[in-house]
Amino acid sequence: MNNILSPSILAADFKKLGQQIVDVDNAGAQYIHIDVMDGSFVPSISFGMPLIKSIRSATDKVFDVHLMIVDPIRYIKEFSEIGADIITFHLEAAPDPQAVIDKIHGLGKKAGMSIKPGTQVEELVPYLDKLDMILIMTVEPGFGGQPFIEASYDRIKAVRKMLSDRGLETDIQVDGGITKENLRSVLDVGANVIVAGSTVYRGDAGQNVKDMLEIMA
Ligand code: DX5
Ligand code: ZN
Repeated sequence: MNNILSPSILAADFKKLGQQIVDVDNAGAQYIHIDVMDGSFVPSISFGMPLIKSIRSATDKVFDVHLMIVDPIRYIKEFSEIGADIITFHLEAAPDPQAVIDKIHGLGKKAGMSIKPGTQVEELVPYLDKLDMILIMTVEPGFGGQPFIEASYDRIKAVRKMLSDRGLETDIQVDGGITKENLRSVLDVGANVIVAGSTVYRGDAGQNVKDMLEIMA
């Protein structure tokens, strides 16, 4: 299974966002993580369609869109049209999660499902064989720069086991509080798609990406 780095632009400097995306692209990051927050599913509001549309031409890398929005099915088509490649929604936010997965797949995109730190991993079971990626939040969604929740190790391990018991090699993404220090440990318990905001964009983004990719090699 491939290890993939997905820098989160939430921590970028928006006055030079295009360049900050080019920097992580050139340094070898495979995905660009894009956090959409609606001020309702999570307390904060980040950005939406016009921003995503305008950065699409900055890179050919995979747009990994993390929707922290209520009733996500309403916007799947639009995110797909503006260039999302992977669309991840929250299980807690979707009245009919299977319908959201079907909608994403119907548009030819990859479907991810995310759970917050307080949601039981067993709730993923009905959807395991339907998903391209599972996002295990390692902080409460809503803000960058929070400390990693240590209980996440056991949750990642449990989901990796649930997948391998079913013969599945689905990507497991982790998001929140990932540092150069804990990166190796989250990979060791079974995560393979790594989101990092502050760790990438605090300081020299290109160098930070290279350092992280080296740990992931
Ligand atoms: C938090 C977002 C994250 C955030 C991570 O709700 O989903 O993607 O950007 O930021 P760091 O890596 O700083 O914890
Ligand atoms: Zn995110």
